[in-house]
Formats: sequence, structure tokens, C-alpha cells
Amino acid sequence: MALYAAAAAVLAGVESRQGSLKGLVYASSFQNVKQLYALVCETQRYSAVLDAVITSAGLLRAEKKLRPHLAKVLVYELLLGRGFRGRGGRWKALLDRHQARLKAELARLKVHRGVSRNEDLLAVGSKPGPASQVPRFVRVNTLKTCSEDTIDYFKRQGFSYQGRASSLEDLGALKGKCFLLDSLLPELLVFPAQTDLHEHPLYQAGHLILQDKASCLPAMLLAPPPGSHVIDACAAPGNKTSHLAALLKNQGKIFAFDLDAKRLASMATLLTRAGVSCCELAEQDFLAVSPSDERYRQVQYILLDPSCSGSGMLTRQLEEPGAGAPSKERLRALAAFQQRALSHALTFPALQRLVYSTCSLCQEENEDVVLAALQQSSGAFRLAPALPSWPHRGLSTFPDAGHCLRASPETTLTGGFFIAVFERVEVPSSVPRAEAPAPDLRPSQAPKRKKRRQKAAAAPSTGPDT
Ligand SMILES: C[S@@+](CC[C@H](N)C(=O)[O-])C[C@H]1O[C@@H](n2cnc3c(N)ncnc32)[C@H](O)[C@@H]1O
Repeated sequence: MALYAAAAAVLAGVESRQGSLKGLVYASSFQNVKQLYALVCETQRYSAVLDAVITSAGLLRAEKKLRPHLAKVLVYELLLGRGFRGRGGRWKALLDRHQARLKAELARLKVHRGVSRNEDLLAVGSKPGPASQVPRFVRVNTLKTCSEDTIDYFKRQGFSYQGRASSLEDLGALKGKCFLLDSLLPELLVFPAQTDLHEHPLYQAGHLILQDKASCLPAMLLAPPPGSHVIDACAAPGNKTSHLAALLKNQGKIFAFDLDAKRLASMATLLTRAGVSCCELAEQDFLAVSPSDERYRQVQYILLDPSCSGSGMLTRQLEEPGAGAPSKERLRALAAFQQRALSHALTFPALQRLVYSTCSLCQEENEDVVLAALQQSSGAFRLAPALPSWPHRGLSTFPDAGHCLRASPETTLTGGFFIAVFERVEVPSSVPRAEAPAPDLRPSQAPKRKKRRQKAAAAPSTGPDT
């Protein structure tokens, strides 16, 4: 299928909510997915401008066979994109006939709105939302390298290192080739929002994991010490598993489960590239994993990051700003699974700490699931205050809900996220104990970070947690 026809088909699919932009791009038969994705994204970004120009130029009235989505893609390419550059076939010939009128209407629109650049037209009506301002977070994989060496590498590549962030404003103000060290996670680098490191040699070699800051918090808050046994209940594609392995320094064991064979296959690649050697992967329903199985006798830590509506995901917010919430039925089904998985996880006999996380903004999948699991555990577990200085807290739907944390582009410059930390109220005396530290959830008190913090003593003071 030709590029423009493919882009028009994807655009139509996105607008009629047949799927996400990325999903529809991959489902199309067009080979160069990157090119197709970029064209549809940009056309969508300028959608309101293109509608205004096409309408006032009377394009669809004059060309009855031209479908609206194709018109939008073609006019984008003609006026705002790279031009047809030898592509376009009969559609290029058709647009050539209207070129002068379309250009005149675009110029008129700019005069009308008092702007001189095409980009400035976006400020009226379709300005990029907060999701597009979220910086590019990059976790340094400490199984392969360290922050200091990585910073040096980027400096040698012409990037300008600005030191350790001291406020959220520092992160939001990043531009060009500048980068920072995050104020909360000493292995997290922060680059300007549009930075693409997918082709970077350090990423290809598994030294870097491209992971949003909010998604780094679950493993950080679980904080299993080296040597301990951990379950990652819904693990693929494995970003958090690789983070757990880094915290364990590859010592101890991670039992990682997932139902999806395809996602597990890419997870296996990711873990190999990241140098993870302490993880056992299993294609298995976590609900069918028996807590009384001898193999899990020493599991004191569980990470539960189950399937969710993904309503907080940045890609979703970028592709479908303002998209409606997931349907009630879907939410009910997801919440029922999440609650079952959480209550099941809390029955592992040696469990001391569990982190429950979702990239959903919906109370039904977050606070409601947590409350139901607490009630079902009959006092055996309580919520620990997760990062007390983090500014965005759980919705106050029950007394301890403020112990949970939430994240969003607007409040924390991250993707939308929810985290609850459960800890056992009483330690059963028969449980064999690993060299577990007191379950203090502040990162500065985890042993590894303490060392790093001392090293970073000359860095500016951290201020608020984000
Ligand atoms: C949000 S994703 C996990 C992301 C992962 N923790 C990471 O950070 O890369 C949820 C995963 O749960 C898996 N899943 C869904 N139901 C499951 C079940 N009953 N048992 C195990 N895994 C399940 C899905 O296949 C999906 O890969």
C-alpha cells in the first residue's frame, strides 16, 4: 500500500477509535512503520489547522472523489511536511491544481491568528498537551555500567551535563543536548522530551533502559536486598524485572511470570541484553502459581504490575489526547483480575513486602483494588507510606489511601501511574530471613543509594523528590 493511502487508513482508524495509533500502524501492511507513524502523528498534530485550511479552500467540494482523511494527509505533506518529493502519483497532480489556493488559505490563517510560523498555529487550539512535555528518562543499567561512566560517554558525544536536578522545573526546562541526573534515582538520566535514543549504541548494548521515571519507582520501592527471592508476577516485557535484577546485583532469584508468549520472547531478549542472570522466566498464569510450592518458600518480595487499562500511558495520551475513559465493563473485568492477583500474591507465606502498580488513572484499578485486598488480608498487611515527599498522592477514598502515590505529566512530569506498597504487619517466626534491611521506603536509606549519595555530596541539594 502507498504511504499516503496507508496514513489515511490509520488516521481514519484512530479517529473512529478502532485502535491506538501505534497498533494500527503495526497492523497496516506498510513496511516503513517509522515513516508511517511520523506522518500520521504530524498530520494529527496539525489536524485542526488542516481542517480549517481544507474547508476554506473548498477542496473536498471541488474534488468529490478525495476522501477527507487522505485529503488531510496530502495537504499536510504539501503545506507543512516535506513536500511530495517524487511521491504522490495522481494525488500530487490533483493537489497541484489547488496548491495556490491552499497556500493562500494557510497564509490567511496565520495573519488571522497573528503568528508567523506554522508551528505557532499549534498554540491556538491544538497546543501540545502536558504529555508531550515529559522528559526522556533513561535508566542506567548498573549490571553493565554506572552513572558516572555513562555521563562521561554522553559528554564525549557533545551532550552538556547540567548536574543533578534540584526541582521539577529543572527537568521541564531541559533543551537541546543538555541532560541531568534525576534528583530521586541516582541511576536515572533525564534528557529533553524529544530525545530519541533507540538507535544509541549504549541502548543497543543494554547499558541503558529507556524507562519512564514513574515506571522505575515500583522496583525502587520494593528494594529487595541482594540475595533475596522475588516474584515478578506479571513481568513482560521486563523493564521492571531488569531493574529488580540490578538492585539484586544479580544475586538471589527472580521468578518472573507472564501469560503472553510473544511478550515473554521479547523479554528474554531484553534480559539477555541487560546482562540479567538471576531470573527464571515462566510462561504461566500467576493465579495458578501455588504459594505453598517449595520453590517460593523464601519469596519475601513481590512486584505486581498487572494488565490495566493503560489510561495513564504517555503514548496513549499523546495519540488520543482527551480520549474517553475505558468502558465500565472493561474496567470491571480488569479490576476483578487485579484484585484476584493482588489477594493471591498476599498469600505467599514468607512475603514481607509487595508493590502493586498500574499505569492507569482509574480509581477502580487503583485505590479500590488496594482497599479490597487490604480488607481481604484481615489485618495481615498494611500500606506503607510510599515516598512521603512525592507530591501526588492516592485519592483519599479510605483513611490510608494517601500512603499510595500517583504520578502524571501535570504533577510529576512523568507518565500517569499508581503505586501502593504493602508490608506485613507481623513477621511469622518460622520464616527464614534473608539479610533484609528494615523496610524503610525512602531510597536514600537503601544501602546502594547511600553510597552513591555520599559520592554525590558535591551535587546541588535535592529539594523535592521529583
Ligand atoms: C503492565 S504489563 C507488565 C509490564 C512489566 N511489569 C514491565 O515493567 O515491563 C502486564 C503483563 O501482565 C501479563 N498478564 C496478564 N494476565 C496475567 C496472568 N494471569 N498471569 C501472568 N501474567 C499476566 C500480560 O501479558 C502483560 O505482559
